[in-house]
Amino acid sequence: MRSRSLIAMLATTVLAATVLATGCAATTQRSAATSLPAGVTTAMIAQGDSLFNAGSCQRCHGQKGVGAQNAPSLVTGPWMHHRGSYDEIVATVTAGIPRTALKDTTRRFPMNPRGGPMNLTDAQVRDVAAYVWSISREKPAP
Ligand code: HEC
Repeated sequence: MRSRSLIAMLATTVLAATVLATGCAATTQRSAATSLPAGVTTAMIAQGDSLFNAGSCQRCHGQKGVGAQNAPSLVTGPWMHHRGSYDEIVATVTAGIPRTALKDTTRRFPMNPRGGPMNLTDAQVRDVAAYVWSISREKPAP
């Protein structure tokens, strides 16, 4: 009698834990999906990662966008040109930053539109911006 009630208790505990774990997993998945900006997918971020880290972006901003001699970090430090929303990043990458608009006038080069020689299409700009958005979540808004 005693061991049977113990088994029953164990079974209930396992069942409760399973329900709880399943519930948590579902919640985590949902919040991860809704925390991306509208229109952004994890596939876009992955595609943007390849474009950024193989293309001209990393020559100035450094591998993974951590900053280098010719351009600021896109991972840490305050934003210089906007508040870091996905749409603002898309606009900046599309238009580039002319020399007259540079905040740090000691930079050697302005930033050309659409990655300069990369000549990114609208879809590629959105991919690369999705990647920049993803690596810059710790940046404080100005
Ligand atoms: C020729 C060097 C160069 C290249 C190539 C380059 N950038 Fe930049 N980028 C800069 C400079 C310089 C700034 C602005 C610094 C300033 O205003 O003082 C900047 C600023 C930015 C900003 C705004 C940062 C802020 O704080 O507001 C973003 C976003 C950005 N770059 C993304 C990219 C992406 C994505 C690519 C590739 C498609 C790229 N850059 C390619 C030099 C470059």
